[in-house]
Amino acid sequence: MTTATPIPLLVFAGSSRAQSWNRKLARVAADAARAAGAQVTHLELGDFDLPLYNGDLEARGIPRDVIRLKEIFHTHPAWLVVSPEYNGSYTGLLKNTIDWVSRPVKDDPLWANGGKPFAGKVVGMLSASPGALGGLRSLSHLAPLLMNLQCWVSPKQFALSKAGEAFDADGQLIAEAARTSVQGVVDQVLNAARRFAD
Ligand SMILES: Cc1cc2nc3c(=O)[nH]c(=O)nc-3n(C[C@H](O)[C@H](O)[C@H](O)COP(=O)(O)O)c2cc1C
Repeated sequence: MTTATPIPLLVFAGSSRAQSWNRKLARVAADAARAAGAQVTHLELGDFDLPLYNGDLEARGIPRDVIRLKEIFHTHPAWLVVSPEYNGSYTGLLKNTIDWVSRPVKDDPLWANGGKPFAGKVVGMLSASPGALGGLRSLSHLAPLLMNLQCWVSPKQFALSKAGEAFDADGQLIAEAARTSVQGVVDQVLNAARRFAD
């Protein structure tokens, strides 16, 4: 990949709620990344049919959508994950998705290594919450989870506090400081991914 090649960047939020603040923030981050020249894939986790992980279910066969997600994760060297905070941590939706995608697939040499979709990814983390901390504590749990899967977590993060008042009617961030912070994470992830690709 040359420096002129757009970085394939995957963006997704850990919420499937229709009016989700984190999905809104993911849209803002995806737009910023597109403007910075990335080739953005914006994923909605709610579009994937994943049951709650259970080893007995897995023994009967990995769901088709898990394989779809493995392919998508694997083909994007850089990601932005936008994480809501539930009880001081990330959501069950995000954890369940990552757990399924990390499973090795029996009798499929392509996915025999469960860590393959994660290893070496450059990941930027953002969060949004109506609360004062902006979901920051979810990121402090998400970082070690991603690092355990051999992701390179970007040092720059952004937690959007008081998310209920942060967006205008078009879904844009009102505060200049918030827009600058999103851009900071996006730029750091894209720069690191470019350096890794050299
Ligand atoms: C089970 C549950 C636990 C929550 N715990 C926290 C929390 O620890 N910290 C926080 O800031 N917000 C917490 N919230 C509020 C969420 O931040 C809020 O529902 C937010 O809108 C969820 O993200 P979303 O808008 O992207 O769906 C919690 C919400 C739920 C449903």
